[in-house]
Amino acid sequence: MSTAKTVAMVTGASAGMGADFCRQLAGRCDVIIAVARRAERLQALAAELAGKVEVHPLEADLNTVEGVTRALEALRQQGPVDYLVNNAGFSTFGQFADLDIQGQRDMVNLHVDATISLCRAAIPFMRERGGGYIINVSSVGAFLPGRGLAVYGATKVFLNYFSQSLQAELEGTGIAVQALCPGYTHTEFHEPLQGFDKSQVPASMWMESAEVVSASLAALGNGRVLVVPGEVNLELARKGLQRQLDAL
Ligand SMILES: NC(=O)c1ccc[n+]([C@@H]2O[C@H](COP(=O)([O-])OP(=O)(O)OC[C@H]3O[C@@H](n4cnc5c(N)ncnc54)[C@H](OP(=O)(O)O)[C@@H]3O)[C@@H](O)[C@H]2O)c1
Repeated sequence: MSTAKTVAMVTGASAGMGADFCRQLAGRCDVIIAVARRAERLQALAAELAGKVEVHPLEADLNTVEGVTRALEALRQQGPVDYLVNNAGFSTFGQFADLDIQGQRDMVNLHVDATISLCRAAIPFMRERGGGYIINVSSVGAFLPGRGLAVYGATKVFLNYFSQSLQAELEGTGIAVQALCPGYTHTEFHEPLQGFDKSQVPASMWMESAEVVSASLAALGNGRVLVVPGEVNLELARKGLQRQLDAL
């Protein structure tokens, strides 16, 4: 592949924000490596975006060593990438001590291990080329420790810290790192969450996935690492941080 092409890798591209990242990156990229487990969804996205951008579907379960290896191989062979969007994710809901441990470990694998592995592979190429963008999809929940999301929230705190530290280490390289911290967003994310009733959350707290993605891309390179889309979410994040400060 010619190095003159602008290339993105988006994980979790088969639904929700990942699919919207692909749609909105189509205007900025020549090639998008779209990663997820549901290959037929990725094929449909490639068909939808045909003529706008070349989508290379990559079927991979990023919870597995094999899946991460396949993504790393694609990064090396079809890259180097200009945009890396670590978006794939899921959550469970419930008290930690009552939840199956495997689901919690899978979340750590997907949100943390897969993200750092892909960043580690992409950054040397970005450094060599003198620039690039990394978006790690975190959550406003990272600012709001509480009941029901102990491991999920902790993985997102990891992503915030990791992204901020990475940006400090990469100062002067032309690489911009963002931790995108959405609040309630209409996607498929909440469907598997047992005990979570979407209708209990006021409509004013929800954002559309495309809106969140636009806010992320608009903020890229503006010097902010933590990007919290929407006024309601920003207010929540500030209150959560204040509570943590007050507790010191
Ligand atoms: N929606 C919200 O309210 C909200 C709020 C804050 C943060 N977030 C974060 O936003 C990100 C995107 O979520 P979403 O809301 O767009 O949810 P979604 O509609 O459920 O999409 C999740 C995506 O992740 C992929 N994925 C899940 N497990 C995977 C695995 N093992 N390997 C590869 N891909 C995997 C799914 O694809 P396959 O099933 O095809 O593999 C899907 O494409 C997540 O990191 C989530 O934590 C969401």
